[in-house]
Amino acid sequence: MSSNTDFEPKIIAFVCNWCTYAGADLTGTSRLKYATNVKIVRFPCTGRIDFLLLLKSFAQGADGIIVSGCHPNDCHYTSGNFHARRRWIAFRSILDLMGVDIRRIQYSWVSAAEGSKWADLVNHTVADIRSLGPYQEYQKIADYLEKGGYHGED
Ligand code: FES
Repeated sequence: MSSNTDFEPKIIAFVCNWCTYAGADLTGTSRLKYATNVKIVRFPCTGRIDFLLLLKSFAQGADGIIVSGCHPNDCHYTSGNFHARRRWIAFRSILDLMGVDIRRIQYSWVSAAEGSKWADLVNHTVADIRSLGPYQEYQKIADYLEKGGYHGED
């Protein structure tokens, strides 16, 4: 088993096309260095993100998740980010109740002009998740459920 010092976290970032994806692109074109542990999944708007995808990501091996879109009042669909934030607050309570480690999910706003903020967000998230270690607890539950779960008394 690897120690936390050589553990490379797998991070999935769900981002909106118009702000955070463009901000991440700017990070690259500005040649700012940031951790390569992140796989980006692009949505038209954070309002379109199905939060069950977060659980699916953990089940399939993610150790941490970033959700990021336009700043309040900058959403290209007017209020998609407010809608996402409201759903996130409700979903976060459910996750907490389920015992999902919500320290592993980072919710943020990054605009198209904030390439350095994107780099900081990724670097901090990777460092935080590295210190928490691999998220094996959730993956074990998902494996158990996938194999059919509990079928009655022992
Ligand atoms: Fe970016 Fe809606 S378009 S959050």
